[in-house]
Amino acid sequence: MFDIGIAGEINLDLILYGLPAAMPMERELLAADFVTTLGGSSSILAHNLSMLGTSVGFTCAVGRDELGAMALARLRASGVQLVDVHYHASLSTGVTVLLTHGSERRILTYPGTMSELTVENLSLEFLSSLRHFHVSSFFLQKALQPGLPRLFRELKQRGCTLSMDTNDDPDDRWAGVLDELLDLIDLLLPNEAELLCMTREPTVERGLDALAHRVPLIVVKRGARGATIQQGARREDVPGVRVVPVDTIGAGDSFDAGFLHAWLQGASALDATRLGNLAGALSTQRPGGTEAFREPALMRQFLRDHGWNDILPGAPSGTS
Ligand SMILES: Nc1ncnc2c1ncn2[C@@H]1O[C@H](COP(=O)(O)OP(=O)(O)O)[C@@H](O)[C@H]1O
Ligand SMILES: [Mg+2]
Repeated sequence: MFDIGIAGEINLDLILYGLPAAMPMERELLAADFVTTLGGSSSILAHNLSMLGTSVGFTCAVGRDELGAMALARLRASGVQLVDVHYHASLSTGVTVLLTHGSERRILTYPGTMSELTVENLSLEFLSSLRHFHVSSFFLQKALQPGLPRLFRELKQRGCTLSMDTNDDPDDRWAGVLDELLDLIDLLLPNEAELLCMTREPTVERGLDALAHRVPLIVVKRGARGATIQQGARREDVPGVRVVPVDTIGAGDSFDAGFLHAWLQGASALDATRLGNLAGALSTQRPGGTEAFREPALMRQFLRDHGWNDILPGAPSGTS
């Protein structure tokens, strides 16, 4: 049995630091630093959840190539169980190049196999082994989308709880089966901009008003300000943790990892959000979305220093 099953994309993030914000054509522009790390919202979530101690089953589509093999190896090393991995016959594994300029970044993605996973790739055996099922990057999962309403209904009937973090819609349409899924999930984890887009409302408050009667629990991620919880009629702001970020790549996915780790252990939405804020802040302390979680000593120290033991008994274990 898995605490959680995640279906989504896997790729590497190639991050360049220190490039000029203006990038003229036909010039060689030199970066000050470069990091290759695990990318893909779904993979970052799976990796960090597993490092926190949740048992994770993960399924994805990937190419038969070295970048795919490297990304899968990173997930395996975190303890994530790879299930029903679909090796695509012709497409290569996707890749994201991030050009960071101070706190802002350009994000260039070649999707490759990222959008190729279908519901038919998920075995009944895998689906039957889940307490909870999560979809990240809903809008990137173009082949998965059409099968999701039926899948969500079936899982719900079996007592499996459901959550979603749509991330951005590259087509900026915020449509399709999203509407149907909103009435089926137990938990939605958008950031501020995504909440406004999907509800077509001008403020977070109005956006939450619009969704509160449809989704039992909504947690809006608000960058350094932390997060806002909407649970039924109750709304609560939970301040973020004060840090100086290296970058904020994957902070939202790391927030999801902290939140889900606590929530799946039965913690309250408030305590789960506190751990979400801790995990999001921790991820900013190293490049990319997973590097801070690959240093167990740093992870344990950071979480302890910021009150993990007040939230959940027993800090995460691991070898340092
Ligand atoms: N500069 C920061 N300082 C402290 N915490 C941060 C910072 N940026 C992000 N976080 C944490 O990570 C979470 C997710 O970040 P956010 O940028 O809101 O989401 P996303 O990455 O999905 O856009 C925030 O809710 C917060 O807990
Ligand atoms: Mg996000």
